[in-house]
Amino acid sequence: MLILGVESSCDETGIALYDSAAGLLSHALHSQVAMHAEYGGVVPELASRDHIRRTVPLLREALARSGRRLADIDAVAYTRGPGLAGALLVGCAFAEALALALDKPTVPVHHLEGHLLSPLLSATPPSFPFVALLVSGGHTQLMRVTGVGEYELLGETLDDAAGEAFDKSAKLLGLPYPGGALLSKLAEAGTAGVHELPRPMLYSGDLNFSFSGLKTAVLTLVREQQEPLSAAFKADAARAFQEAIVDVLVRKSLQALKQTGLKQLVVAGGVGANRQLRAAFDDEARRKRYRVFYPELEFCTDNGAMIALAGCLRLQADTPAKPAGAFAVQPRWPLMDISANGTK
Ligand code: KG4
Ligand code: ZN
Repeated sequence: MLILGVESSCDETGIALYDSAAGLLSHALHSQVAMHAEYGGVVPELASRDHIRRTVPLLREALARSGRRLADIDAVAYTRGPGLAGALLVGCAFAEALALALDKPTVPVHHLEGHLLSPLLSATPPSFPFVALLVSGGHTQLMRVTGVGEYELLGETLDDAAGEAFDKSAKLLGLPYPGGALLSKLAEAGTAGVHELPRPMLYSGDLNFSFSGLKTAVLTLVREQQEPLSAAFKADAARAFQEAIVDVLVRKSLQALKQTGLKQLVVAGGVGANRQLRAAFDDEARRKRYRVFYPELEFCTDNGAMIALAGCLRLQADTPAKPAGAFAVQPRWPLMDISANGTK
């Protein structure tokens, strides 16, 4: 079974071909980051227009690299939500129209399910069940994953997402959008212990997070400084911020493993690319004897491969494909709505 995957929920256009027997055949990606950087954040209308420009060339590229033809595709999976309404509509219209022309069914996919299952694309995938820490620009959730479509929400952020906190703090330190990866790089030059930042909700007794206070703490630090901020201050503040957020993410994830009795942890989403976060998890994994799995770096941020994979796994798990031609997206869509055993 050959599945075409289409991702267009935010500022990346991703197209991929996934074969149920051979695995991922090819994927092509275009990031709009450079285009939005000028405005300090994603401009939804520009995002939609760029998705329109990119989808067909990316499809050609992915097809050429896969060695397959359009006619070989058995179903078209695409991100139905959550995300930007206009951006989602471009991918949906493209996928539904293509499937209609090919006389093939479609599989609308939940974007977060794509992230959750993305480590299954790697050479050493986890097996079910596992705890998943989903850390992206829009979400921070801890989930118990028992199987495809079997997700239990263990905890989530009450305000900013981890990636959002990275990006907002990076902005306060004068870094361009999206600042997550740049802040992480800057932190490498910083000295530990120069600034102490709070670890919000570390002892809350549950698995929820809150990051807006951490961002405010960075703002307070910045306000205490004289302009222009020195390079040393920026690096030390970046280091303090990163250490605080990594500490909270790691310790809450360990609590989730303890609470569920599970031994495998999956770290997915854009922030999962963070080197210090990975180092901290690897370190704890060695000491506490659990296993931690990450998607390949290129599949941490948004991509079409995870959507093609999720579509394929859904079909294999007997989720019926639907006839092509219905153009509906779901910009707001809680993951628990698609879970067989979810609790809210
Ligand atoms: O999963 P993703 O591509 O998009 C969403 O679905 O939100 O995640 C993007 C987020 C951004 O906030 C970005 O700054 C953050 O992931 N990010 C990082 C790193 N790479 C990407 N944050 C910290 N360290 C990184 N290395
Ligand atoms: Zn994402």
